[in-house]
Amino acid sequence: FFFFLGGWGVGGGGGVLGAGGKVAAVMPEAAGFQGVTDRATLQEFSHAHSDSFWAAMANHRLTWTSAYDTVQDCDLRRGKVKWFVGGKLNVSVNCLDRHVLTCPDRVALIWERDEPGAEVKVTYRELLEMTCRLGNLLRRRGVKKGDCVTIYISDALAERIRDANSSTVITVNQGVRGGKMIDLKKTVDAAVDTCPNVRQVFVAMRTETPVVMKDRDVAMEEEMAHEEAVCEPAAMDSEDVLFMLYTSGSTGKPKGLVHTQAGYLLYASLTHKYVFDYHDGDVFGCVADIGWITGHSYCVYGPLANGATTVLFESTPIYPDPGRYWETVQRLQINQFYGAPTAIRLLLKYGDQWVHKYDRSSLKTLGSVGEPINTEAWEWYHKVVGDGRCPIVDTWWQTETGGICIAPRPSDPDAEIVPGMAMRPFFGIKPVLVDNEGEELTSKSASGALCIAQPWPGMARTIHNNHQRFIETYCQPFPGYFFTGDGASRTEEGYYQITGRLDDVINVSGHRIGTAEIEDNHCSAVAESAVIGYTHDIKGQGVYAFVVLKKEADITEPELRQQLKDSVSKSIAKYASPDYIQIAQRLPKTRSGKIMRRVLRNVVERDLEGLGDLSTLDDPTAVQEIIQAPLKGS
Ligand code: WT7
Repeated sequence: FFFFLGGWGVGGGGGVLGAGGKVAAVMPEAAGFQGVTDRATLQEFSHAHSDSFWAAMANHRLTWTSAYDTVQDCDLRRGKVKWFVGGKLNVSVNCLDRHVLTCPDRVALIWERDEPGAEVKVTYRELLEMTCRLGNLLRRRGVKKGDCVTIYISDALAERIRDANSSTVITVNQGVRGGKMIDLKKTVDAAVDTCPNVRQVFVAMRTETPVVMKDRDVAMEEEMAHEEAVCEPAAMDSEDVLFMLYTSGSTGKPKGLVHTQAGYLLYASLTHKYVFDYHDGDVFGCVADIGWITGHSYCVYGPLANGATTVLFESTPIYPDPGRYWETVQRLQINQFYGAPTAIRLLLKYGDQWVHKYDRSSLKTLGSVGEPINTEAWEWYHKVVGDGRCPIVDTWWQTETGGICIAPRPSDPDAEIVPGMAMRPFFGIKPVLVDNEGEELTSKSASGALCIAQPWPGMARTIHNNHQRFIETYCQPFPGYFFTGDGASRTEEGYYQITGRLDDVINVSGHRIGTAEIEDNHCSAVAESAVIGYTHDIKGQGVYAFVVLKKEADITEPELRQQLKDSVSKSIAKYASPDYIQIAQRLPKTRSGKIMRRVLRNVVERDLEGLGDLSTLDDPTAVQEIIQAPLKGS
């Protein structure tokens, strides 16, 4: 890897860090960076010498099939993002094969099944064998490099299959969660019937319940058993697609965000290690659904790239009782636990006894993700769950960022932590706050739109089939910067606090939903609707819908509610279904016809003083009508 040895060579020297060089002790990749003595100087180095920084990381942490020739070729103004150009590698080799050489019998993943005490441990050797069998099966069944395979564990399937142009779908007969069986295969059948491009559906058997197998269906485990347990890894280009995940925006259909091979893997691996202070031999427990980015980066790619033992949690926080998480921590001896504030808020209501019942002494770090963690939940997580011993890392990031971007303690086990604050940017991440005019706010303490000023390897490359939307959403609002859609403030000390979305995206229990997506679910009686998020004790935000009925509508209120809820549950997900549906005569609009959701939010939150300037409204009496109507529950 001579090519990256420029002015800021890495690999030489060692021990360059000064006496205060805590970073060197915990971050060997950084040894050799000139002038780097501590976290602050490393952070500066990672911005000023981005190529040298990321080259050193990529060379230390990834196993390459052939070397890249250019560290980065990026232009945020044009939405161009390429990392480690010309390099080849294989993600499976990095996550499995290389660990099989050194520790074949280490447990790679623990499948924590829905039923407590029924976990299945899979070693690196076994996981590689299973992966090879599946790889061989996919190859034999005509899946080629560059083809998109849909793995079904989440929602709104048909639209995604069509958008991604998948010809192969992988699913299970039934899912199991909280003691309930969910007929996933039935959903897949219905979706695939509307997708002529799908030629085969692999069906794995999660339960013993038989399902009707159609011509296109393939019994996955049976066929895998006939495959060889060795499969030659393909050399993939750094910038070949690794996966796509669909996520909501404020307008239009969900976006298929594209992540690629090398940069994503590097970023997931690096953040997994340094944000959570992961060490060899630790058991890493991220309880997120693997169908989301959190599960991708911190159940699968990050931990496996680091040779960790990772937990796949199939159940819910309250099954069979509210002690489930901590019972699992005790039984599996989990060292880092990573979960969502909504679950913490739920559990704290059940009381401390469910936590005290179990031994949590294995825990070293507690992580939080997906939404702001309020002080009460933070304190409980810290004091009760962690016995005041474990640092809480409130991690801010997004599907778009690929991995954690702001978190309290990248690689500094002694750094101060402020409750409920994500605080410090990860290395290579340069946050900036921008005002409405697009001016960067340079004073220390400030508050504005959160942007990231330099590209980093983990960021999404495009929106599948719609690069223009990628540019418009992330690159054009503040030219030269990546726009996150969130607002944030910065303290005198330079710590960041996320204040929430600036657009019409709401966050229900860590699920991100565009209000437009829910509004799309008209039933025939509805003329128009407006959906907003309101503050909810446990879910963080809940969904509140205002609907205006057609003049000729002939439907009772309960019927209308049921129809709308069913429609949203079916087309998006149950969590997106409105808690409140209020029928209004008309909606507050600007003169140009834009619905003023801000006004509706104020009404619902009963913040009438905050209504502020209504002068741009087309007809202010619309607001009065809504204020006077009683707020309607389900
Ligand atoms: C949005 C991203 C992060 C992966 C899972 C969700 C909100 C995320 C935090 C946090 C406050 C947070 C933001 C962000 N968010 N983490 N620690 N504090 N808000 O990924 O579905 O892409 O959602 O979740 O609003 O933009 P996602």
